[in-house]
Amino acid sequence: MKKSILCIGAGYVGGPTMAVIASRCPQWNITVADISEARIAAWNSSDLPIYEPGLDEIVQKVRGKNLFFTTDIARGIRENDVIFVSVNTPTKTFGAGAGFAPDLQYWESTARAILEHAGNDKIVVEKSTLPVRTAEAMHRILDNNHKKLHFDVVSNPEFLAEGTAIRDLLDPDRVLIGTMPGPSGNRAGDLIASIYQNWIAPEKIKRTNVWSSELTKLAANALLAQRISSVNSLAALCEETGADIEEVAQAAGMDHRIGKAFLRAGVGFGGSCFRKDILHLVYLAEQCGLPEVATYWRGVVEINDYQQRRFVQRVMNALFHTLAGKRLAIFGFAFKADTGDTRESPAAAIAKMLLEEHAKLAIYDPKAMANARAELASYGDAVEFSNSAAEAARGAHAILILTEWAQFRDFDYAGFYQQMEKPAFLFDGRNLLDHQMLHKIGFTVCPVGRPTLSV
Ligand code: NAD
Ligand code: UGA
Repeated sequence: MKKSILCIGAGYVGGPTMAVIASRCPQWNITVADISEARIAAWNSSDLPIYEPGLDEIVQKVRGKNLFFTTDIARGIRENDVIFVSVNTPTKTFGAGAGFAPDLQYWESTARAILEHAGNDKIVVEKSTLPVRTAEAMHRILDNNHKKLHFDVVSNPEFLAEGTAIRDLLDPDRVLIGTMPGPSGNRAGDLIASIYQNWIAPEKIKRTNVWSSELTKLAANALLAQRISSVNSLAALCEETGADIEEVAQAAGMDHRIGKAFLRAGVGFGGSCFRKDILHLVYLAEQCGLPEVATYWRGVVEINDYQQRRFVQRVMNALFHTLAGKRLAIFGFAFKADTGDTRESPAAAIAKMLLEEHAKLAIYDPKAMANARAELASYGDAVEFSNSAAEAARGAHAILILTEWAQFRDFDYAGFYQQMEKPAFLFDGRNLLDHQMLHKIGFTVCPVGRPTLSV
């Protein structure tokens, strides 16, 4: 077998993952293909289509050597024997399962393209997050071919988080490889494992059956999101009782069985995957006739929505029950720090709720301005896209911290305060800042799950 890989889908997963494989496996030739000409042109330019710390440096080292970006998918399929598929798998918006089930049209059209253009046997690797039993279904579509070709389908879900993608790919907690039963499936799994073994210790490469691998990906995201909803539900209780969620989360997390990671209260989780993957899980449970299981996981998403509505309600209550015509400075629009991605961003949902109340928004984000503009294009001059945080704060009634960018800590809040309407409010939706310091400046400070510091 030639040491060459095709990856179909040049998004947040396909691009960084293949760049890291190329950098760690110089003996492998890697081509990343996408239907989007604009995306491929950006990958081939000095202005990459996504912002991810460390990505530029890696791409510069390997692009044109053993990493190539193309729109010629058919040629890629003909010339490569290992094909990773990392196309998007959004939630279905139509027909049966709308709002819950995954929309598999991109994945299936990729499988059919592979079938159409393949001239020899292939290993197809599921990198996209897919419902349990998709690999099996794909295996059936691919293997029932008149060309008499053999296809192995391997599940190799990705666990990178945006903002730390390169670090996660270079030093993952584990690599999961799920294979179909039988010697051919095992051999395919061995080959995929041998790629990762170029930089990852063998004990971190976990082999399972294909169904466990698919379910583990959904389970891992659901368990992570569930911790956030748990801590956010406790934050609501803290606000009513005078307890402080930072103290509660820290003290509870000191129990090694609980652990301290992923217990940061805030405006809820965003990102393209948590919501979608939990809703897939809910759909799966319903399809399996397990309504109690579906209800349990649906609750994680419901608490997340509630947390965002609750945050907006707190802003309303503090600002004397009306936002109409009031300028609000929004610091942060990305769904988390260190990314420009705004998919399912809590900031976007909150901004829309504030706009429904006829607030005027001034938005500043270090990396997500283009996506923010696209997301709020229909709101006209109710939204200003500011060149700096100071510009956004000028004349505002309140500052809302909606993304946990570390650099927000270093701003000149005393200077902002001077330029704002009084009384000036600061809603720290990420519990990021030094609240006592802000209070001393003169702000009324409203954190999440901690007592308000009023003036
Ligand atoms: P994305 O939207 O950024 O990228 C998907 C790419 O696939 C797009 O560029 C699109 O043009 C391309 N595409 C769609 N159909 C195609 C086709 N038929 N042929 C060729 N290209 C096609 O998505 P993403 O964030 O990279 O996510 C991809 C998958 O990985 C999803 O299943 C997601 O759940 C999963 N995942 C994402 C992350 C993350 O942090 N974003 C992490 C782990 C897993
Ligand atoms: C998440 C998972 O962490 C990855 O393992 C997974 O591969 C990925 O989803 C995916 O399948 O797409 P990601 O969404 O990129 O990664 O980022 P996270 O760091 O998980 O943050 C998700 C959201 O939760 C962000 O909005 C973040 O601000 C929020 N969050 C995170 C909290 O509100 N509190 C926390 O304690 C942690």
